[in-house]
Amino acid sequence: MTAAAPSPEQDLPETFYLKDYTPFGFEVDSVELTFRLQPSATRVLSRIRFTPKPGAADPRFFLHGEKLTLISARIDGADVSPEITPEGLTCVTPDSSFLWEAEVEIDPAGNTALEGLYMSGGMYCTQCEAEGFRKITYYPDRPDVMSTFTVRIEGAENVLLSNGNPVSQGDGVAEWHDPWPKPAYLFALVAGDLVNHPDSFTTQSGKEVELNIWVRPGDEGKCSFGMQALKKSMAWDEEVYGLEYDLDIFNIVAVDDFNMGAMENKGLNIFNSSCVLASPETSTDANFERIEAIIAHEYFHNWTGNRITCRDWFQLCLKEGLTVFRDAQFTSDMRSASVKRISDVIDLRARQFPEDQGPLSHPVRPEQFQEINNFYTATIYEKGAEVIGMLKRLVGDAAYKQALELYFQRHDGQACTIEDWLKVFEDATGRDLSQFKLWYSQAGTPRLKVTDSFAEGTYKLTFEQTTAPTPGQDHKDPRVIPIAVGLLNDKGEEVQPTTMLEMTEGTQSFVFEGLGGKPVPSILREFSAPVILERDSSNAERAFLLAHDSDPFNRWEAGNALARESRISMITEGTSPDNAYLEALQKLVRDDDLDPAFRALILQPPSQSDIAQALFERGITPDPQKIHDAAETFALVLAQQLANSLPRLYAETTLEGGYAPDAISTGKRALNGRILALLTRLDGGDQASRQYYAADNMTQQFGALSCLMKAEKGGVQSAAFLSQWKEDRLVMDKWFALQVACAAPGQAAGVAADLTRHPLFTLKNPNRFRAVMGALSGNHAGFHHHSGAGYRLLADNLIALDAINPQTTARMCTAFQTWKRYDGARQDLIRQELQRIADQKGLSRDSNEMISRILNA
Ligand code: BES
Ligand code: ZN
Repeated sequence: MTAAAPSPEQDLPETFYLKDYTPFGFEVDSVELTFRLQPSATRVLSRIRFTPKPGAADPRFFLHGEKLTLISARIDGADVSPEITPEGLTCVTPDSSFLWEAEVEIDPAGNTALEGLYMSGGMYCTQCEAEGFRKITYYPDRPDVMSTFTVRIEGAENVLLSNGNPVSQGDGVAEWHDPWPKPAYLFALVAGDLVNHPDSFTTQSGKEVELNIWVRPGDEGKCSFGMQALKKSMAWDEEVYGLEYDLDIFNIVAVDDFNMGAMENKGLNIFNSSCVLASPETSTDANFERIEAIIAHEYFHNWTGNRITCRDWFQLCLKEGLTVFRDAQFTSDMRSASVKRISDVIDLRARQFPEDQGPLSHPVRPEQFQEINNFYTATIYEKGAEVIGMLKRLVGDAAYKQALELYFQRHDGQACTIEDWLKVFEDATGRDLSQFKLWYSQAGTPRLKVTDSFAEGTYKLTFEQTTAPTPGQDHKDPRVIPIAVGLLNDKGEEVQPTTMLEMTEGTQSFVFEGLGGKPVPSILREFSAPVILERDSSNAERAFLLAHDSDPFNRWEAGNALARESRISMITEGTSPDNAYLEALQKLVRDDDLDPAFRALILQPPSQSDIAQALFERGITPDPQKIHDAAETFALVLAQQLANSLPRLYAETTLEGGYAPDAISTGKRALNGRILALLTRLDGGDQASRQYYAADNMTQQFGALSCLMKAEKGGVQSAAFLSQWKEDRLVMDKWFALQVACAAPGQAAGVAADLTRHPLFTLKNPNRFRAVMGALSGNHAGFHHHSGAGYRLLADNLIALDAINPQTTARMCTAFQTWKRYDGARQDLIRQELQRIADQKGLSRDSNEMISRILNA
């Protein structure tokens, strides 16, 4: 017996580079697929017509294919024997157009990775983005290969769905045809015993579109909110972007086991049930908001993603950044624009800033990856959307509109790049965007240092931008930064309305003339660029802006900065909570002229992780326990100061009448919830307990339960909640998460460990896994408890899940990305756990890439 010597690279995962892009050497003229569904032995028959491209740079006939059993392969009717590797097959092909036919067998029931064709709760469903289609059949599985698909499904299920329009529906078979050429990642198939919530929409040109939300029997009562959101999205895209839907039917399906939130497959969106099913009794206000946004997001992809798609996965932000930007515009129009902006910035700072300043930092358009699934990141999505916001601010609304019209006109039906996208803006505006492009190619969050001076009526603002090195990128060039600035006089009146400064140099000054006195500047209004603003400001000035700024974002930002500074001096100097800030808060809470949603945001304390990051940025090693204690002290002191007015404020902000998830009521409940949280610190939970038992909606039931749990007074109600909702998976996810989120620092890991042994816990459902492990990593002081128990438990569970579901495992590895913030002892504990994961035999490519990038920090 002879063994081949292993090649040294054999175990190293392959890295893909943007610079290596080469088009596929063949046109795919048409694709016909037949599915013979069987849980453990589904047959997939493909008939695909290929035409070689003359003069192709890469003439090899390579089809991706993973975990497929090839039954037969033919070219123009004659059997062929392709050469097969774990990644795909190659085969000798004719010089002109030919018909490729293959039959493969796959195992949907055994597919726990939830990529390709898999089963969830007895139904068949697919997830093909980014590279899941290759687990269904042999195919050039890359987004620049587009073709029309005809799909025949043979199965005993009563509902058989695929993309496009229905051609025929018979007993045990259905045929679908999608006339729009698409890449394979947009393919979808669903088969199950489902029921629908039907509706219809008439487009602006008068075409009638059939709409359906498909769910498992029993869930049909939870579809109407999602359906309304879909119709609002369709109307909005026509009105604002002039974009109409382009098929006769639009289907949405809810599935329980799903790695992500939802997927924009052409004409057949597939949703994590948590992102579409809603009812007042089982969903919180936050759930309703998310559902409305995500339905819009996936629908908007029909143009930004499907009609115009990405040339390769390096261009992912082309569709995701733009579609996040569009769904944010939609939410701003449907609800409150300032509340949406503030929430998005809170989210950006919580998720994208740490990513951009840590070991996982990468450009909005990355230039290399090992596993593309690891690049569906906050940077691609949220920073990608911020970059579009900046572009719009720089060129103005009218030019943005023209550029988008040109984009759809010029690129419809194509697979595009960021260069195509920027060219459209250059052509529409005559601007040179080469410097702006740095936002796509340079990683890292710029720091913007501001100084000012005033003399003889002239006010001068000087900005200096710097970006720290990021992995693989030491040198950074100055970027274009739109800085929205307004000036206030000492009475709080605006003497300079918002003006957009355009910074292009490393250091640059701007002057404002003819002022009667030194103004108070309001800088980076609306958060006009995703940068870290550094300015020596006083708490008095922050309080002044909190009281007077006409820009709602900066008004909130002033309060946020006050909260942060107060918290930091409590931690580092042992001071008591800042009085000026406490007073300002008390005034704002009672100010009925202010939007309740805004007041709720002002009352939302900075997260403990944000405080850790802020300390770290000042060269102070954060102590998670101290940060936790300061947060507790602050909340208690605030509650005590407001003690006399809390019961009245609670009563005044309690909504009368039935539940509705609209923005106004949502804002009022948010404020009411904040007040209840403060009240619970004083009344031992009496009011929260009353609210818990009286609640007729999940927002108030769960809000009350959270308050009680945090006060360690919720044992009875938590048990009651469990027995009331044990049959409802989505509500149970909330219960699981809450146990861990509310646990005291020393107990969080133990509580989470116990929950992983709960009969309702399973590693196979990503929502349940994320409920427990996501809550653990989100409990800052608990996860980072000095015992290391949090780190150990997460690592144990990542290792266990990796063998089942690599994609969800790899995403959860990001919990460790901030490890360099903490002290040496914690770093040692984390390093040990990262190393233990890295040493696992057979670790997935997904987790391997994440862990090694984090370890190499
Ligand atoms: N295209 C993605 C879904 C996706 C992501 C599939 C990664 C496969 C791998 C979809 O459009 C999306 O972006 N969904 C987001 C929600 C959205 C509101 C930002 C998600 O699933 O979290
Ligand atoms: Zn998307």
